[in-house]
Amino acid sequence: MKRSILLLLVLALAGAAAFAGGQQDKENGTMVVGFAQIKEDSPWRTTETNSVQQEAEKRGVELKLSVTEQDGQIAAIRDFIAQGVDGILLAPQTRSGWDEVLAEAKDAGIPVVLLDRGVDAPEDLWVTQISSDFVFEGREAGKWVAKRLNGKGRVVELFGDPAADPAILRNKGFMEIMKKNPGIEVVESKTGEWSQDKGRQVVEAWLAAGVEFDLVYAHNDGMALGAIDALKAAGKNPGKDVQIISIDAIKAAFEAIDRGEMNCTVECSPLLGPMGFDALAKAIKGESVDKYIITPDKVYDESNYKDHPTGGF
Ligand code: AHR
Repeated sequence: MKRSILLLLVLALAGAAAFAGGQQDKENGTMVVGFAQIKEDSPWRTTETNSVQQEAEKRGVELKLSVTEQDGQIAAIRDFIAQGVDGILLAPQTRSGWDEVLAEAKDAGIPVVLLDRGVDAPEDLWVTQISSDFVFEGREAGKWVAKRLNGKGRVVELFGDPAADPAILRNKGFMEIMKKNPGIEVVESKTGEWSQDKGRQVVEAWLAAGVEFDLVYAHNDGMALGAIDALKAAGKNPGKDVQIISIDAIKAAFEAIDRGEMNCTVECSPLLGPMGFDALAKAIKGESVDKYIITPDKVYDESNYKDHPTGGF
């Protein structure tokens, strides 16, 4: 084999090994990835952070982790760019406000992969969005509610951050189904900020104000668990005289279903680390990546919760 062809072959193999394999492609060091995670009081998010950290460790990637609210996330991305990281994972707190910093990353030649939520920035500024289909989740929750209430009843909704992609889309999907079920009234809808404690406070306030409802629809399990706390404190039987449905499928939700205090949870996988690094690896090698990578979600209630492969996330 001619020397020039051999050299090309060696260079191609070295390129393919970069990131996906040994991560030792740079002169003297490992691949470096920044992860701008959202600061949020939720076990789901902790599991997602762990998934990214474990995958980085497995691949020998040096991970720079930042856990902050949106302004801090933007500052962290600028910091990652200044440090010359090889790629960025971003879990965007809200949909908007990302154009400028994503353009800065693009100008610096650093690929950005969106984890668990979408943004309204132009698609050429980010590589891919890896997440659940939130409209699907909202619709599935709505269908379960319509069936459980037999098309008639009073529902309260606890949503997450109103500017966040999953809150907007879970409400959209749910309301689509509610419109087809005019006997079901959504009597209250308020943010519980994705947090168990805030969810509890909101439901406590509704109960104190004399709001009557047959069912709580919470956009995540944390807030549903808060609703359960509030209902129990008020002497009610969550899961029986008030039905509880939420989204995420964390272990604590399965335990609540097992205790008969909760009725249903729609899956939303936080185990996005492996897919996130796969996408970054491809982008760094110049390979194409699907613009949306959607994880499959199932609905779990009293009838099938024991079928979940890991008993929740
Ligand atoms: O973006 C995913 C959602 O965000 C999860 O449902 C929730 O728990 C988190 O706050």
